[in-house]
Amino acid sequence: MSAQVIDGKAFAAKVRAQVATEVGKLATEHDLVPGLAVVLVGEDPASQVYVRSKGKMTVEVGMKSVEHRLDDDTTEAALLDVIKSLNEDPTIHGILVQLPLPKHLNEDLVIGSIDPAKDVDGFHISNVGLLGTGQKSMVPCTPLGCLMMLRDHHGSLSGMDAVVIGRSNIVGKPMAQLLLGDSCTVTIAHSRTKDLPDVVRRADIVVAAVGRPEMVPGDWIKPGATVIDVGINRLDAPEKGEGKTRLVGDVHYESAAAVAGAITPVPGGVGPMTIACLLANTLTACCRANGLPEPEGLTA
Ligand code: GUN
Repeated sequence: MSAQVIDGKAFAAKVRAQVATEVGKLATEHDLVPGLAVVLVGEDPASQVYVRSKGKMTVEVGMKSVEHRLDDDTTEAALLDVIKSLNEDPTIHGILVQLPLPKHLNEDLVIGSIDPAKDVDGFHISNVGLLGTGQKSMVPCTPLGCLMMLRDHHGSLSGMDAVVIGRSNIVGKPMAQLLLGDSCTVTIAHSRTKDLPDVVRRADIVVAAVGRPEMVPGDWIKPGATVIDVGINRLDAPEKGEGKTRLVGDVHYESAAAVAGAITPVPGGVGPMTIACLLANTLTACCRANGLPEPEGLTA
């Protein structure tokens, strides 16, 4: 058996197209333009690539894009000032502070200073609490993207056994909450889990979000299970030439695809969904801020 490949790139393009349509309606019917501000502190090369890509796609769907690039040695007070001004700016509906921050800045404090209504990352403890209690919140983008793909593939997830490998605040924990919200029986596995292979073998849905290249082999996967691979790991690929690299997920793709019912590839799976969901969240935040109904299918 060979798994159906879940094409995140195509799915993300569809989500962005829906967002663009809704943004068009906001402009013509309400004279409104959703605005997304991204704050980048320092020179982390991977973060710079993400931020550039976010800016480009924000403009492509018709939203206003604002970028604040601050020096590596920016003080906490200066960063909090920038966030305060964005909180108060009525043309900005979404604020994203790119992580990781330089070591001298307190991430919890910085995230806690963002207006929860503009927290399009869903990292503010108000949003974490709202999600955990099943209330309307801003939902972290990567888990939201995973949920959209799972719902699209399965329709209802009710009663399914789901295992989330990884317990990060950005992916693992919110992913587990979303699956629970869709009535899955959820296990969160992590580095101290006893007999991880056995735990994973029970799952109808496996979400791997640990950041360890190819750590989940195919023989851990229950035949027919759906595998969502959140990992993006860069490995040396001398076979492609000197200095060349390749991207792999947290799942060993070939062996898992031979047993799974459906699987997301890396690249081209979860990755593109993250930015699409960021745009969806910005649109949602703009609608909420203006007392307008939220577009269907773009939130949890
Ligand atoms: N760094 C890596 N992923 C993310 C994300 O989803 N949001 C933010 N703010 N920073 C990140």
